Amino acid sequence: MPLTAKGLEGVVAAETKLSFIDGEKGVLEYVGIPIGELAESSTFEETVFLLWNGRLPTPAELADFNEQIRDRYELPAGMEQRLLSLPRDAKPMHMIRTMVSALSMHDTNPDANDQAGLRRRALNILGHVPTLLAFFHRYRMGLPLVKPDRSLSIAANFLYMLNGRKPTDTMARAMDICLILHADHGLNNSTFSARCVMSTESDMYSAITAAIGSLKGPLHGGANEGVMVMLNEIPSVADCEKYIQNKLEKKAKIPGFGHRIYKSYDPRATHLQVLAKKLAQDTGNMPLYEKSKAIEEVMLREKAAKGIYPNVDFFSATTYHCIGLPLDLFTPTFVIARVGGWAGHVLEQMANNRLYRPDVDYTGPRDVRYTPATKR
Ligand SMILES: CC(C)(COP(=O)(O)OP(=O)(O)OC[C@H]1O[C@@H](n2cnc3c(N)ncnc32)[C@H](O)[C@@H]1OP(=O)(O)O)[C@@H](O)C(=O)NCCC(=O)NCCS
Repeated sequence: MPLTAKGLEGVVAAETKLSFIDGEKGVLEYVGIPIGELAESSTFEETVFLLWNGRLPTPAELADFNEQIRDRYELPAGMEQRLLSLPRDAKPMHMIRTMVSALSMHDTNPDANDQAGLRRRALNILGHVPTLLAFFHRYRMGLPLVKPDRSLSIAANFLYMLNGRKPTDTMARAMDICLILHADHGLNNSTFSARCVMSTESDMYSAITAAIGSLKGPLHGGANEGVMVMLNEIPSVADCEKYIQNKLEKKAKIPGFGHRIYKSYDPRATHLQVLAKKLAQDTGNMPLYEKSKAIEEVMLREKAAKGIYPNVDFFSATTYHCIGLPLDLFTPTFVIARVGGWAGHVLEQMANNRLYRPDVDYTGPRDVRYTPATKR
């Protein structure tokens, strides 16, 4: 009997050594290391090295990896011109999906699919994505572009290119922690998309472009923007209960809650909550944090019994807002982080590839005769 599972729930479609998740206990580890330890002590660059190599780097290896990434902060010749020809009102997720795809045309060997070739393409995307996002934001705002500063980490350089001034250490570290927490997460929809495309032996750019298209959806990475829209819609803490109850009565899903795998507190949300509170205190955004806590309280009371808890997107919204990111850059910022995971999975897929080609259950009519147009 063929196996059918709507939404592929419970189907194991790949093996991975990147991240381990225990959805019942709320555990997430990258290559065996608890996510909390990485958020506490690692950097995004080191975390990406871990995901791509299955181990932490030596100091010399990390320095070399950082150099390779920073060599790619600048865009390839012609890409800036391409970006400056885009409509200023384009949505950033559509822009970044399109521009990652366009990067392949500025690569002399975009289809190099051996492990070394794939790694170089992955580094290109990792290095270029923050620059593309920051350049596009300043272009659409009519501001002069701020060239990347290779003395800065990915997180600090991104904020620098966006705002035109170096971030404080606290803000740069907060951004770095967000990138670490969002870097990988099992066979989520966008990661599956990347592996699925790569399984045809296509190329790294096509795989990551497909993954960005997937991440954009409100059921996936787009939820962080949905959370912020909701927080903006609720006037005050006192209005949270009524707002959420209204939505639940209409059977609406509350953005930032629920998960296919986690049936308890998402461990990423645990860390982001602490970060959101600290940043909200530092930046005068406590009303926003307090609204989040009030929503969480209602949701836990109403839905925890069904295994619906805050997910990664719930407190990342407040965190990103306090860091100063514009609302429509929340999901694109998720892209910066998840390139680490997507590329790691593409490398893993190609190390032991088999084409993804599931079956489908045909439920339409059979034995139908063609009717000429005049007789319809
Ligand atoms: C993440 C998500 C898509 C998982 O979906 P899923 O595993 O297919 O689960 P379902 O959508 O089938 O939900 C199962 C039940 O929980 C309810 N539920 C799930 N998420 C909910 C939410 N955020 N708010 C209210 N109810 C929710 C569903 O209504 C459904 O109830 P029912 O059994 O009475 O019909 C879903 O929880 C969701 O849409 N969340 C909001 C968007 C979001 O935050 N996405 C980011 C994920 S990291």
